[in-house]
Amino acid sequence: MASELIFRGHESHPASDAYSPKPPKPWLNVTRPIHYLLREQRLVFIFVGIAIATLFFTLLQSSSNPQTQIPDSYFSSELTRTHNPHRSAYQNGHLTTGFGINSVGKIPLGLKRKGLRIVVTGGAGFVGSHLVDRLISRGDSVIVVDNFFTGRKENVMHHFGNPRFELIRHDVVEPLLLEVDQIYHLACPASPVHYKHNPVKTIISFFFTNVVGTLNMLGLAKRVGARFLLTSTSEVYGDPLQHPQVETYWGNVNPIGVRSCYDEGKRTAETLTMDYHRGAGVEVRIARIFNTYGPRMCIDDGRVVSNFVAQALRKEPLTVYGDGKQTRSFQFVSDLVEGLMRLMEGEHVGPFNLGNPGEFTMLELAQVVQETIDPNAKIEFRPNTEDDPHKRKPDISKAKEQLGWEPKVPLRKGLPMMVSDFRQRIFGDHKEDSSSTA
Ligand SMILES: NC(=O)c1ccc[n+]([C@@H]2O[C@H](COP(=O)([O-])OP(=O)(O)OC[C@H]3O[C@@H](n4cnc5c(N)ncnc54)[C@H](O)[C@@H]3O)[C@@H](O)[C@H]2O)c1
Repeated sequence: MASELIFRGHESHPASDAYSPKPPKPWLNVTRPIHYLLREQRLVFIFVGIAIATLFFTLLQSSSNPQTQIPDSYFSSELTRTHNPHRSAYQNGHLTTGFGINSVGKIPLGLKRKGLRIVVTGGAGFVGSHLVDRLISRGDSVIVVDNFFTGRKENVMHHFGNPRFELIRHDVVEPLLLEVDQIYHLACPASPVHYKHNPVKTIISFFFTNVVGTLNMLGLAKRVGARFLLTSTSEVYGDPLQHPQVETYWGNVNPIGVRSCYDEGKRTAETLTMDYHRGAGVEVRIARIFNTYGPRMCIDDGRVVSNFVAQALRKEPLTVYGDGKQTRSFQFVSDLVEGLMRLMEGEHVGPFNLGNPGEFTMLELAQVVQETIDPNAKIEFRPNTEDDPHKRKPDISKAKEQLGWEPKVPLRKGLPMMVSDFRQRIFGDHKEDSSSTA
């Protein structure tokens, strides 16, 4: 009897059982999606959706256009138009999208530039308060840090109540932690009166502010990834042997002179700033500011322009030190503020000379003050102070080329604006507010 176990492996399967893959579907069936779209009026809904979205973004864009919101000259200025598209602050997400700003500084349709958070140390002072005005009018949030050594609350009082403005009474020699995008470091007892008349106290104040204060602010910049701008000075050139002064000139400072606490303090601050840039990767900017004048200057701070203007208004003789042939260049404060903001927004570290190259002797300046205020004002000569530089005039080619900046306000136009502010403050005349240049 044959076994039930029969090996069938060799038997071939009938043809109908053989594996036959399905024929491949055509990979692009054009008619199916068209049918899908046409069914149940889907196409109509898509068109309606596109129309609603277009309308929404158009309305959003027109309502968020800063030119229509804040009628400020800043928005039509060159600065806005040349805004740099590669700013790290924007790359860090301060635009609502992360698309960045296009090459002409415009923001993509429907998107709004988000204001930055900015600290201005020394923001209650002369230059600082004008800078604060411009930043606030641009839409930024500003924190002023000031110990009121030479600054005044009155300079920033008009921002009290603005939710984008804060004022902190604080000495920068003490550390401070704030979440910010940019730091403008202006705090410094800048007036010559202080460093000539109370040397010991002033040296301590100058060095602590310029060294410890600058270190603290650089430390803050490093910790929070903020961009840091130092307001240095033309005094780093000392009594210059090169004229006009170019940024590459290393200067001629007397390290043991009466002015050296200021000059060397600022030179050290520049050194620290560059060391933090090279060693810790902090984004820094350095401005070397030349003589600046304008409304809100300290009335009796011993600077030549404020001295002459206050003396002429009070009918006192204008005091000229030395023979009056030493030269200076005078920059109106709004020009400086424009330069500082361009420097902060730009890609170049500096240092940059920011000053007006128009050169005047002290006697010429006294004559302009006479013409503007009182043609009968007398001039009185006094012995010159030690280490008073003979010549000072900025070469601003670098700022012109790399920042697209140059001063616009000539002395004869700027001085009357300062005079009306000084008149109000000296005589308590409150007819008009001429102190703002924003
Ligand atoms: N105005 C100019 O002609 C000129 C020229 C060159 C450089 N600068 C520089 O520009 C900056 C501003 O100068 P300014 O003319 O507005 O002088 P300013 O004296 O009007 O302002 C300086 C401000 O810093 C504050 N300050 C001083 N020490 C401080 C400290 N330890 N902590 C906190 N705040 C402090 C003062 O109270 C004041 O409000 C300074 O750094 C100065 O060296 C100015």
